[in-house]
Amino acid sequence: MTRRLVLTRPDDFHLHLRDGAMLAGIAPESARDFARAIIMPNLVPPVVTGAQAAAYRERIAAALPGADFTPLMTLYLTEDTDPADVVAAHAAGIVTAVKLYPAGATTNSASGVRDFDTVRPVFEAMAEAGVPLCVHGEVTDPDIDIFDREAVFIDRVLDPIRRATPGLRVIMEHVTTREAVDYVRSADTGLGATITTHHLIINRNHLLVGGMKPHYYCLPVAKREVHRQALVAAAISGDARFFLGTDSAPHSNDRKECDCCAAGCFTATNTMPILAEVFEREGALDRLEDFTSGFGAAFYGLSRNAGTITLERSDTPTAFPARIETGAGPVTVFNPGFAVHWSVTARN
Ligand code: NCD
Ligand code: ZN
Repeated sequence: MTRRLVLTRPDDFHLHLRDGAMLAGIAPESARDFARAIIMPNLVPPVVTGAQAAAYRERIAAALPGADFTPLMTLYLTEDTDPADVVAAHAAGIVTAVKLYPAGATTNSASGVRDFDTVRPVFEAMAEAGVPLCVHGEVTDPDIDIFDREAVFIDRVLDPIRRATPGLRVIMEHVTTREAVDYVRSADTGLGATITTHHLIINRNHLLVGGMKPHYYCLPVAKREVHRQALVAAAISGDARFFLGTDSAPHSNDRKECDCCAAGCFTATNTMPILAEVFEREGALDRLEDFTSGFGAAFYGLSRNAGTITLERSDTPTAFPARIETGAGPVTVFNPGFAVHWSVTARN
């Protein structure tokens, strides 16, 4: 049995670091294991210009003094986004990608796109300049059931966008369905997908049976078991189009344990040990490094990280903190609901 893994330092291709006291409290949780992360722009107000992304990057660096961590910034696409600003911010090395949120799809997405035709000039400029588009793939129509929103988005929005702008590189973020996995597999080029830690573990029963679990509530919401199995199959398949984006999305406990629970699972603290456990169960430990440290960098055209992390397996379960205390309140750490035997024992 494998008891020790030395992996290229991983990257997180979908991460919420927030701002202010929350940023200060939770950023070290990602910087400990991860070398780089694609930073989501859904602050209040959102990060919409290159200048705002540069300022946010400075605030992240200030929250991580001495850390070896590179934030890869994104711009929040709105119907007012200036294609020239996107291209200039990308050329200047400030911005790595642009994020498309359908208006109202998730936390802080009110400024997102309503009419996808209005942003076509931005997509065309991005395709031309090689700027990738990260997509929150859910429709928001009130008549579409929340469990169907991702699958409907593929047909109604994503596929038409990709057909209209063939050179555009797209990452379908935090896929949660068999339909999304199949769609990514069916594409010839230019389409990848991130998979979160928690969607490899929970299905909608974990969320709802025996009492509603607010710390398992995220968007896109966890689906049926057959979909979780499709995500696991994709993650361990060795198909380079599927890679890790944790979507670690902290909310203070008072915003989770209340009348209207905010969406988001906080997995930054224990993602790597949990993933080792999941891949081990599947007999796929040899595929973990590509998923966490290889395929995403390749999709984004980045070099692999120079450092390594070492994971070791013990016979007794590993303990994780139940919560991280921050100046913005405590944040509950994702509990996978099963014993995890792996821990990170060295970082080089
Ligand atoms: C994210 C957040 O809290 O910002 N929440 C979530 O459930 N994943 C937003 C998002 O990525 O959808
Ligand atoms: Zn997210």
